[in-house]
Amino acid sequence: MKVGRFLAERLRLAPEPSTFNPAPSTTAGSFIRLSGVSKDYRTGRGPLAALRPTDLAIETGEAVAIVGPSGSGKSTLLNLIAGIDRPTAGRIVVGGADLTAMDEERLTRWRGAHVGVVFQFFQLMPTLSALENVALALEFRGGGAGRRRDRALALLERVGLADLADHLPAELSGGEQQRVALARALANDPPLLLADEPTGNLDSATGERVMGLLAEFTAGGRTLVFVTHDPALAARAGRVIRVRDGAIEGDERHG
Ligand SMILES: Nc1ncnc2c1ncn2[C@@H]1O[C@H](COP(=O)(O)OP(=O)(O)OP(=O)(O)O)[C@@H](O)[C@H]1O
Ligand SMILES: [Mg+2]
Repeated sequence: MKVGRFLAERLRLAPEPSTFNPAPSTTAGSFIRLSGVSKDYRTGRGPLAALRPTDLAIETGEAVAIVGPSGSGKSTLLNLIAGIDRPTAGRIVVGGADLTAMDEERLTRWRGAHVGVVFQFFQLMPTLSALENVALALEFRGGGAGRRRDRALALLERVGLADLADHLPAELSGGEQQRVALARALANDPPLLLADEPTGNLDSATGERVMGLLAEFTAGGRTLVFVTHDPALAARAGRVIRVRDGAIEGDERHG
């Protein structure tokens, strides 16, 4: 924790304000730990190894980019850490919680409280406005509907969408939907943010704004794991994990 705060202080003084946290040098208990985790899919042409048996540890406060070709297993890895997909084998522990030991209901509640997720295809509720989509994520915290609305609007403001708060997802561009999804993921101020191509649909100015929000997120000592095809975005993470054919083929820390 001390190390995280130290790095956060240093980052605030750094000349490049939207560079993500460098990797913390602690070897204490990992925040995310995958042990022998694999994911197979049954297909018409036999079993497909989306993720081969993998060991991986990610520390509190790290900003990790997952890169690799299309179909290499990036989303699979992210969805396993989010507890959205179940592994075929192995054990996944996040923040002390053994995801592989939880039933669906506990897993859903755990995710709601501890993880913000930005999906590759957003997955907004089509019949709810942008504002309602964000406010929905706040529901399990309790508190009045008015307070949730105010917070949802403030979150939309942060991603530059306050003016479109009453639009349905179908009335928003891909990049705008992506930013609603980011606002929703940040709604509960989770210790862990998982994002699949968070700038994939954004023009460079808006992408820059989202990157700034992600940097701000990690500067608070929180953990970020994101998938990206954008080398510039990957280069700003403290650690880059390269996936190919369902296996981690590279894992580099820098910064
Ligand atoms: N539900 C599924 N059923 C069968 N195969 C699947 C399923 N989901 C993913 N796969 C396969 O698993 C492999 C890894 O998929 P994954 O979505 O993790 O790739 P990715 O690296 O995220 O690709 P992209 O960059 O295109 O998003 C692919 O070969 C894909 O076809
Ligand atoms: Mg993917």
